[in-house]
Amino acid sequence: MNFEGKTAIVTGAGTGLGLDMATRLAQSGANIVSADILDADAGAEAARAAGAQAIATTTDVSDKAAVEAMVARTIETFGQVDILINNAAISRGMVLKPFEEVSVEEFRRMIDVNTLSVLLCCQAVSPHMRARRYGRIVNVVSGTAFKGAPNLCAYTASKGAVITMTRSLANEFGADDITVNAVSPGYTLTQSNLENTAFDGVYRGIARDTRALKRDAQPEDVSRVGLFLASDDASFVTGQVIAADGGSVYH
Ligand SMILES: NC(=O)c1ccc[n+]([C@@H]2O[C@H](COP(=O)([O-])OP(=O)(O)OC[C@H]3O[C@@H](n4cnc5c(N)ncnc54)[C@H](O)[C@@H]3O)[C@@H](O)[C@H]2O)c1
Repeated sequence: MNFEGKTAIVTGAGTGLGLDMATRLAQSGANIVSADILDADAGAEAARAAGAQAIATTTDVSDKAAVEAMVARTIETFGQVDILINNAAISRGMVLKPFEEVSVEEFRRMIDVNTLSVLLCCQAVSPHMRARRYGRIVNVVSGTAFKGAPNLCAYTASKGAVITMTRSLANEFGADDITVNAVSPGYTLTQSNLENTAFDGVYRGIARDTRALKRDAQPEDVSRVGLFLASDDASFVTGQVIAADGGSVYH
């Protein structure tokens, strides 16, 4: 895929799937805006190492002013935004918890970071994409929303909402030729999952044994689908959720 001349904002690009997507977009010619609340520099450095121009922005994607500043900096630096990958989420170090134990604060924070952020990022890029009648928005959701994974009530709610938002946003953006799609990973061996040994111990084997393709999922298994949805090869695909999970959920 060729992303020469395109500018991509990748949220949560400091590690995991975001880092992998930012690196692959950079390798294919895109300018990269690496946005992360923690290590945004990691995404920008990987993109530069791949030969791209890149900036890092320390951004909390649940903060409207911070998101607007992120997009303003993108426009100042690169003059345009073509691709938005809404990947950042509360995912790292996730604790499995019965719904009875989920606090109001935890639930709200999950929705703010995983769901409200998608609205804020889409609102912020909208005038720029609409003005050029070009845009590719890719939301990263989760197979847990289809499966109703137990002990992840807030997380599954947050991702289920992004799935339905993907369809609404696709319809609202469609008149300006802007596509909105989602990629749905299953359990994937990202760095944060590998480091969360309790979580990894529960989920890795279950995920592998219950998918059609009986192997672990690597970040590139998901990223390549994200890049397809961000590319011109997918210019007539919108409002869709593609499961990149080795045949685990069917919808
Ligand atoms: N890895 C998996 O098994 C898996 C499965 C299904 C879905 N997903 C989804 O894929 C995406 C990436 O997963 P991952 O495993 O790479 O996660 P990760 O936890 O390794 O990375 C997420 C990144 O988002 C950043 N982030 C968190 N809160 C933020 C905020 N408020 N503002 C800005 N950045 C913030 C983190 O700092 C981190 O760099 C997430 O949306 C996740 O829900 C992952």
